[in-house]
Amino acid sequence: MIGTSRNGQPDQLQAEAEISLKRLLPRLEAFWSEDDVASGLARDFTQRLVAQWPRLFRLLFTLYHNRYDFFYHLEEIMFTAARGWKQRSPELREQDDHRLNDPTWFQSEHMVGGALYVDLFSENLSKLRECIPYFKDLGLTYVHLMPLFAVRPGDNDGGYAISNYRSVDPRLGTIDDLRQLADEFREAGVCLCLDFVFNHTSDDHYWAQHAQAGDIEYQQYYYCFPDRTVPDQYERTLREIFPTVRRGNFTWHDGMQKWVWTTFNSFQWDLNYGNPAVFRAMLEEMLFIANTGVDILRLDAVAFIWKQMGTNCENRPEAHLLIQAFNCLAGIAAPGLVFKSEAIVHPDEVVKYIGAEECQISYNPTLMALLWESLATRSTRLLKKSLSHRHRLPHGTSWVNYLRCHDDIGWTFDDEDAAQLGINGYDHRQFLNNFYTGQFPGSFARGVPFQHNPTTGDMRISGTLASLAGLEQAIEFHDPKLIEMSVRRMCLLYGITLSIGGIPLLYLGEEWGMLNDYDFVKDPAKAGDTRWIHRPKMKWEYLQNFQQEVDEQNGSIRGKIFRSIQKLISLRKNMPSLAGQQMDLVPVDNPHVLGFVRHFEGNRTLILANFTEEEQRVPANNVRTGGLGRFFQDLISEQEIATHEDLVLQPYGLLWLERI
Ligand code: GLC
Ligand code: GLC
Repeated sequence: MIGTSRNGQPDQLQAEAEISLKRLLPRLEAFWSEDDVASGLARDFTQRLVAQWPRLFRLLFTLYHNRYDFFYHLEEIMFTAARGWKQRSPELREQDDHRLNDPTWFQSEHMVGGALYVDLFSENLSKLRECIPYFKDLGLTYVHLMPLFAVRPGDNDGGYAISNYRSVDPRLGTIDDLRQLADEFREAGVCLCLDFVFNHTSDDHYWAQHAQAGDIEYQQYYYCFPDRTVPDQYERTLREIFPTVRRGNFTWHDGMQKWVWTTFNSFQWDLNYGNPAVFRAMLEEMLFIANTGVDILRLDAVAFIWKQMGTNCENRPEAHLLIQAFNCLAGIAAPGLVFKSEAIVHPDEVVKYIGAEECQISYNPTLMALLWESLATRSTRLLKKSLSHRHRLPHGTSWVNYLRCHDDIGWTFDDEDAAQLGINGYDHRQFLNNFYTGQFPGSFARGVPFQHNPTTGDMRISGTLASLAGLEQAIEFHDPKLIEMSVRRMCLLYGITLSIGGIPLLYLGEEWGMLNDYDFVKDPAKAGDTRWIHRPKMKWEYLQNFQQEVDEQNGSIRGKIFRSIQKLISLRKNMPSLAGQQMDLVPVDNPHVLGFVRHFEGNRTLILANFTEEEQRVPANNVRTGGLGRFFQDLISEQEIATHEDLVLQPYGLLWLERI
């Protein structure tokens, strides 16, 4: 069965793969019988292992064959996967079976996500169980809980500095609370998404503590250097991610008398994936997390996981191999699990993480940034330019479309896309930063700067959806017309993320139009990081007031926002055209209007969106040729639209048109 390569020679790697498998399988057999594993379970795992083996071997060999102890690590990796499978609960294994038969289940129009911090939303995990009816009422079928594992004391980067992947932050509950929540989510049809923070650990993780105590084996888990020689060589080509935290990418550790690689905060130590022991150890953590009942694993900071001298150490080819290897092993030991990529980088690089064998779904930071760009400029040109060649994805994958998340907004559009429209990328980013920090004359936005880099002039933006869309300013001006416009802006943006193709993802609090929380500065552990301005504590009184208002038929601003979003979500879930990813731009002879068509299995919807506070005309012919019909119904307003004359879109008007 030795494979042949393209030139007809036996493929050496394939041969090595088979020899290794032949050596390993008897050991696996011994493992199953020693541990008394049911034969069906052992058989399912072994079948998947054998099927995936050539790919897995190739990936790990490419990454680690230079290590003298490669075969040892290979074997350990196999056993780690086998133990993970053995520990998986019968309910999760049953779900795995369903998903193996329906691998694109997440492309359904029923998928709608929300993200939240447990402490800020419900205080703890057990109270979060009581929020399931709320999620269902809003229409969510997937909930991303921001990192909830044990963290270092003090600043922990919103949970992203993890000191133990196996225990929950005691303020939030226990691992059993998490498992119970996951069970209840599953029964309620809500998918659970958790982070896999695998680029770095906290400086008080067990491994880091051992490294600090001088244990060489654990120092090899990180990048530790005795002096500045090597760090300085790396620095020549590195970006700075948090330049206001610390200049450069390395932090001096007094105890070790060494420099440690810290891409993000100084207390987040980058893991060294050049060391296969790190890969194996993190695989074990990954499967532990998956087995708590996770449906979607959010791979944090994927761009940074492989370092190569002389490069910017982002998006290295090996980073992809590593993720593919994790994915392959998940496919063997937790086959229902879906990977979500968090790559907030240049759009050409974002897509490289997306694939059925790498990350099945991915944040869509380019769409996010360009929706805000279009709101600021009132022009959809750059958005259309980007969508025209960047929306399509490989089969079996999906975008996750969002407007705001717990992080900042970075203007990650492509300079070449911009240049083709005569837009200078650098200047345009300066404009957008001025606009969204409210400095540009006439701006409606109330954002604040994040990580201004005085050397490069680079800056990102913090702020809630509502504050960036003008609600904060409008309320301050007591101006009902401006309030109305800001609400329309929010609905317009939702109208796009809910329909354009992919999984829409809300950051909870948005549904109430929550404004910036300037009080974060009172907490010393948060004061240095403006992202806390858009992570406000949930105000449950909004819901109570809302229920009263519904009874009294008297809508407030918040009630209006909630109802509008809830309605759009429920419409989406009844529109089969919105499944999958297929999206075609519709030529609209008006630069202020975005038009596109969604179709799936014979269902078709035409979406039109006006990005200005004035009425806009869309030529009747554009509507007929885009929608392939003469008479339509707008599903949002339930009005009928005929195409004997040009269509007039209301200020920030949004239409979801289906033929009648
Ligand atoms: C990701 C998170 C961000 C965090 C960083 C470091 O980008 O989204 O919040 O600061 O990783 O973990
Ligand atoms: C950078 C990283 C991204 C992270 C963000 C946090 O943009 O690329 O991963 O979320 O910083 O601010």
